Amino acid sequence: ARSLLRFDGRVAIVTGAGRGIGRDYALLLASRGAKVVVNDLGVDLTGLGKNSKPVDEVVQTIKSFGGIAVPNYDSVEDGEKVIKTAIDNFGRIDILVNNAGIIRDKSFSRISDLDWDLVHKVHLRGSFMCTRAAWPYMKQQKYGRIIMTSSTSGLYGNFGQSNYSAAKLGLVGFMNTLALEGQKYNVFCNTIVPAALSRLTQGLIPEEVGEIFKPEYIAPVVCYMCHENCTENGVVIESAGGWAAKVRLQKSGGVAMRKAENTFSIEDVQSNWDAITDMTCNPLYHTSASEATAHTVKLILEKLNDSSKPIPTSFESAI
Ligand code: NAI
Repeated sequence: ARSLLRFDGRVAIVTGAGRGIGRDYALLLASRGAKVVVNDLGVDLTGLGKNSKPVDEVVQTIKSFGGIAVPNYDSVEDGEKVIKTAIDNFGRIDILVNNAGIIRDKSFSRISDLDWDLVHKVHLRGSFMCTRAAWPYMKQQKYGRIIMTSSTSGLYGNFGQSNYSAAKLGLVGFMNTLALEGQKYNVFCNTIVPAALSRLTQGLIPEEVGEIFKPEYIAPVVCYMCHENCTENGVVIESAGGWAAKVRLQKSGGVAMRKAENTFSIEDVQSNWDAITDMTCNPLYHTSASEATAHTVKLILEKLNDSSKPIPTSFESAI
């Protein structure tokens, strides 16, 4: 028999846990023994207003089955206050699920400064503020599990969501660097790309798909990614309806076009364009920027076939 994956002794913060997908994360974590900070500002879909009821309902539900939870009603933009609630009540922070979110959908020509800024503030700055406040605790205790929440809109694009797409893919970039910086402290950061019927997707996801895409079906995936058994770091997992898959950026084999100094023109780029953009030939996947740059340097030097040029030492190890 498989043993249950539990979170006894662990303290988790789930932001935007008053409803939707985050609510189910909080319930599942608490049902498996985690002490949970239930954060939610209780805003409307566009980020306006304030309401403590959603958080209180979730805390009450957790307590009703004997779980441990405390409320936090601050905005994720006040990340220090959110983390402080965990420290003050439970003395530590092990798991941070950056989940709070809003949308302000408009076709790009109609996007206002406010539409752009509010969406960025909640998703990108909110995740930054909470993560920065949790980071020193996790680093010091040499344990941490951090989740970013991205979206298919960011990964693949979606009509009417230029603001949201930019913020959501920004979180993947944020994760990429945290994964590198946290690795040696056993502080791992991964990204979930959920799809579920919630008020956020009402009208976007057809009602009949809603039965397949229940918010509760994301929770086991994210809870596994938050467990100490999961040593994954820096990956993007797309999930819906009890299905999950890994997503990564793909690079073509590329073409080094310069044969010698000063022999490289716009026309060379045109005549090589099909090869540059050919994704069928030796696709590459990198796990850091230095690895990517090292690979480029290697190809350029190979093309120049100039052994007198040493490979820069800073890239040697990556090659
Ligand atoms: P939801 O609207 O049901 O829940 C989001 C919660 O975040 C709300 O309770 C809201 O009050 C809270 N919130 C908003 N701004 C906040 C702030 N500044 N501070 C604290 N809490 C705040 O939405 P849902 O669907 O549960 O979304 C959760 C996350 O998943 C979001 O980041 C969303 O962008 C993302 N997502 C959802 C998808 C879906 O299919 N539902 C698809 C892709 C991504």
